[in-house]
Amino acid sequence: MNPPSLPAHGGQLINRIASAEQKQAFLAQADHLPRLALDERAISDLEMIAIGGFSPLTGFMSQADYLGVVAHMRLANGLAWSIPITLAIEEAQAASLAPGDLIRLDNPQGKFVGTLELTEKYTYDPRREAAQVYRTEDPAHPGVQVLYQQPPVYLAGPVWLLERSSHPLFPSYQIDPLQAREQFQARGWRTVVGFQTRNPIHRAHEYIQKCALEVVDGLFLHPLVGVTKGDDISAEVRMRCYEIMMEHYFPTERVILAINPAAMRYAGPREAIFHALVRKNYGCSHFIVGRDHAGVGDYYGTYDAQHIFDEFAPEELGIIPLKFEHAFYCKRTQGMATTKTSPSRPEERIHLSGTKVREMLRRGEVPPPEFSRPEVAAELVRALRQT
Ligand code: ADX
Repeated sequence: MNPPSLPAHGGQLINRIASAEQKQAFLAQADHLPRLALDERAISDLEMIAIGGFSPLTGFMSQADYLGVVAHMRLANGLAWSIPITLAIEEAQAASLAPGDLIRLDNPQGKFVGTLELTEKYTYDPRREAAQVYRTEDPAHPGVQVLYQQPPVYLAGPVWLLERSSHPLFPSYQIDPLQAREQFQARGWRTVVGFQTRNPIHRAHEYIQKCALEVVDGLFLHPLVGVTKGDDISAEVRMRCYEIMMEHYFPTERVILAINPAAMRYAGPREAIFHALVRKNYGCSHFIVGRDHAGVGDYYGTYDAQHIFDEFAPEELGIIPLKFEHAFYCKRTQGMATTKTSPSRPEERIHLSGTKVREMLRRGEVPPPEFSRPEVAAELVRALRQT
């Protein structure tokens, strides 16, 4: 018998993809509705809400939910949630809209892709949101920068996505929460560990993924392919590296590779909670949190994204964090390790920062096999030479 699927956050996996009849009804009104053009980030939020990745959210947050999340990481009903999911628009446009309006949501190409039933519009304090959510008010922080550039009014209300179109670049890796759950069940997996990443896979990633896989049934590799900051390596290149790993280094019967369409926030600890809840919605029982998860620069302490899990009772989150120390290649024990498992001195450890690797690649230098699998290193060199 297949194992049962784990509950989504809040108890029910949300589906806000319009039925064929709903879609027809929306399309019939298309020319008469007030229009809002969403940017790529807002589109990915709409998509994540619609497919249930952000369950229990059915739309953009009300003021009560927003204030609860910003102040103490709880929705108005007390459920744990750490990142605001909001839709910001200009004051003049907000003035022309009233609660009760059905709004047509267009993608950046002007295509009608969804609707918002406006329940509320409210202003917010960006500095407060920055200080609470990002733990800094520094405009140089990439998440804070986006926040400070946003228009000043948030719109709230439930949304519908008109249709689930396939991803233009990675259609075969588009596995939505419902399908992921079905695949876990079909494979008989009772426990599944989710892995979030926005960087090309290296040996430390592989090590912590495989350590986790030693104690659970399946590994859900879930690279984020939504908007990232300009100097992060592109999703196409990162996915090619994962394909190489699937071909050569992973037991494919125990690993599923899928894309996470969400945008990156770089909110460190708060985003680690958010990343875990999203993977819970995909059906994962466990979630990997390593060093400086979702961090950027030195805004967060190396293990802050692990400590934040202690601010919740385990049942509030309903997904188990698997916390890993900083992993490196150890010359003394000749394998991947952390200070928990190796007695090495610092000079016996090989680890390269993302910045250092990018510099090497730009110079056409191949990262060493202790850092990166040779096939992956070759792919990265090839890809970065072309840019
Ligand atoms: S993230 O922004 O998506 O967190 P990244 O892709 O670098 O960035 O990391 C993916 C996951 O691997 C995160 O949980 C991160 O903490 C972890 N990680 C990355 N490098 C290491 C390392 N050397 N040792 C331990 N964990 C790591």
